[in-house]
Amino acid sequence: MEKIIVTGSCGFIGFNFINSLDETYEIIGIDSLNNAYDSRLKDLRLEHLKNISNFKFLKIDLSEKNEIENHLNSFNGAKTIVHLGARAGVRQSYLEPDKYIRDNTTATVNLALTAKNLSIENLVLASTSSIYGDTGNNLATENQDELNEPPSIYAATKAFGETLVRNVFSEEDEILKIGRFFTVYGPYGRPDMSILRFIHWIATNQEVIIYGNGEQRRSFTYVMDIVDGLNKLRHYNKSGTFNFGSNTTWSLIEIINKIENYLGKKANLVFRDRAYNDVDVVLPNLDNSKQKLDWQPFTDIDEGLEKTIEWYKSNESYLQKIKFKYDYEK
Ligand SMILES: NC(=O)c1ccc[n+]([C@@H]2O[C@H](COP(=O)([O-])OP(=O)(O)OC[C@H]3O[C@@H](n4cnc5c(N)ncnc54)[C@H](O)[C@@H]3O)[C@@H](O)[C@H]2O)c1
Repeated sequence: MEKIIVTGSCGFIGFNFINSLDETYEIIGIDSLNNAYDSRLKDLRLEHLKNISNFKFLKIDLSEKNEIENHLNSFNGAKTIVHLGARAGVRQSYLEPDKYIRDNTTATVNLALTAKNLSIENLVLASTSSIYGDTGNNLATENQDELNEPPSIYAATKAFGETLVRNVFSEEDEILKIGRFFTVYGPYGRPDMSILRFIHWIATNQEVIIYGNGEQRRSFTYVMDIVDGLNKLRHYNKSGTFNFGSNTTWSLIEIINKIENYLGKKANLVFRDRAYNDVDVVLPNLDNSKQKLDWQPFTDIDEGLEKTIEWYKSNESYLQKIKFKYDYEK
């Protein structure tokens, strides 16, 4: 039975990724269960994960070396590590920079060094389109030399996480595979991200907070397409960095209009200043992912939104307990 370690197992993408693995895997899920957003959503995901046979959960904060060392026995024999554990989000990174630095850089290099010592064959690292900054009319390409200055604290910590791991494994090791995800949405999503917040606020007749004028565009990517990318990455036999994003962008207002139609309700929009440098992400260049991994997004926005709303509705009573706003937003 192949052993696979998934960090950030109780997070949005980690949870969906683990659910894509069949029973031939021995899965070790690692998560610190931090309170970056309402941790009851992580509890819900963990409750479901515990029903998977061959799944074992370890509560580890990867930024603490001794916590990793205490559990090294459980790492032994693993061929692959999929590292999804991180702090995500631009706005919050300005309020808690220390936690972003710890969870996105210290934790990442601790894990990479552990992987190296254990002779792991495959390390899949989650990175983000946020590191591209404003690429103007150009598609965002993976070429490392063309990267601009990371445009936010979140982006800087993720970019530095990449750099640290590149200094642990060389290109020739053929071990490190990096996926740069564009804005991800879908079932079991994060309550601090726009699509799920919009669905919740419209469904429950609350004010819909928009930072800026709502015309900013995103390459919204359905989570199962990202999961497909992660599965292709872990089977890829070389090192490399790949974009995983949608080849269409949608504005926040366009997304809200679609959600209004699905729910048959009107949104009560409230506009607030866009205080942080939350760059309008342009489209990804997907040539590399298509050619080398045979990956492309297959879920269009209407199908993805419908599935997300169906999931929301079937979990509505539990989700009523979840906080969709940070304290500073009240
Ligand atoms: N969701 C998106 O739109 C998006 C876009 C681009 C990149 N990403 C990247 O994908 C990955 C997963 O994102 P997500 O949306 O599932 O986020 P998430 O916050 O839902 O999941 C991350 C999980 O990692 C855990 N974690 C954080 N620090 C840890 C530490 N020190 N030790 C152990 N566990 C720790 C958290 O408790 C959380 O459950 C992250 O690396 C993120 O940067 C996400």
